[in-house]
Amino acid sequence: MSDTATPDSTLTQPAHAAALDRPSKRDIDSTLNARLASLQTPKLRDEYGQQGSFLYIEDFLPRDYTERLIAAVHDVMPSVNRNYLPGHKAGGSVSRHTLDKLAPFIADLYRSEALIKWLEAITGDKLQLSPQDDPHAYALYFYTRPGDHIGWHYDTSYYEGRRYTLLLGVIDDSSCKLDYELHTKTPEVPDQPGSVQYPPGAFVFFDGDKLRHRVTPLGENEMRVSLTFEYVTNPNMRPFQRFISNMKDSIAYFGFRQVFRRKGGKNGQA
Ligand SMILES: [Fe+2]
Repeated sequence: MSDTATPDSTLTQPAHAAALDRPSKRDIDSTLNARLASLQTPKLRDEYGQQGSFLYIEDFLPRDYTERLIAAVHDVMPSVNRNYLPGHKAGGSVSRHTLDKLAPFIADLYRSEALIKWLEAITGDKLQLSPQDDPHAYALYFYTRPGDHIGWHYDTSYYEGRRYTLLLGVIDDSSCKLDYELHTKTPEVPDQPGSVQYPPGAFVFFDGDKLRHRVTPLGENEMRVSLTFEYVTNPNMRPFQRFISNMKDSIAYFGFRQVFRRKGGKNGQA
C-alpha cells in the first residue's frame, strides 16, 4: 500500500507481531490486573460520571502491549480497506474478521476479563462482547492519506442496549485531534467541548450515544492508527436496525465482503 509510506521512525524497523511470543489469556489478565490495580478506579469512575460517560487516560496500556499493537499494525497493512464518504469520512479500516486471522493478540486483549471487569466498575453496567458478526467489535482505523478524517458523529447503538466505545492509541505521528462535546444529550447540563491528541497506549472510553466527536484531518506526511473495542449491554438487534447498521458498515468502513461474508455461511455465522 503506497499510501502507508511514511517517514515515521517507529515504522522503519517493525517488529512483526508474528515474531513476538503471544501471551496467554491468563498472562494478559494478570498483566492488565497489575496495571489496573495501580489506577485510582473510584476517582476515575467519578470523573467518567461527571464527564457524561466519557473518560480519558493518557498512560493506560503497558508499554509492551502498545509495542505489540504497533507490530500488529504492520501485519495487517496489506488488508486495510479504504473508504471515502464525501464530506464526512476518509480513511482505512481493518475489521475484527481480519484481525482474528492476522492479529489474534488484539482479539485476546478485547476479551480480557480483567479489562471488561474494570470497564464495568467504571460504567456500573454489565458489559458483553459484541456479537461475532459485528465487524466493529474490534477494529483498527487507519489515517494514512492527507485529509483522512471523520466528521462529527455519535457511535450510535443499533443494539437494544448501550454501546460503549474504547479507543486505544497505537500510532500517532500526526496533528489529528479527537474533538468532542460532552453532555450534548443532557439539556440541563451545558455542552462542554474538549479535544485530545491521544498518544500510543492512551485510553479513550465513552458511551457511543452520548459523545459527539470527530477526528480532524490528517496533514501531509502524517500517520495515525487507532484501535477500537466495542462492548454492549444487550447484543440483540432488531432486523431494521441490523439492515441500517450493515449498510453503514459496508459503505463507511469495511466493504460489503467483510460485512456480509458471514451472512450466507454455515449456520449464518462465523
Ligand atoms: Fe466514533
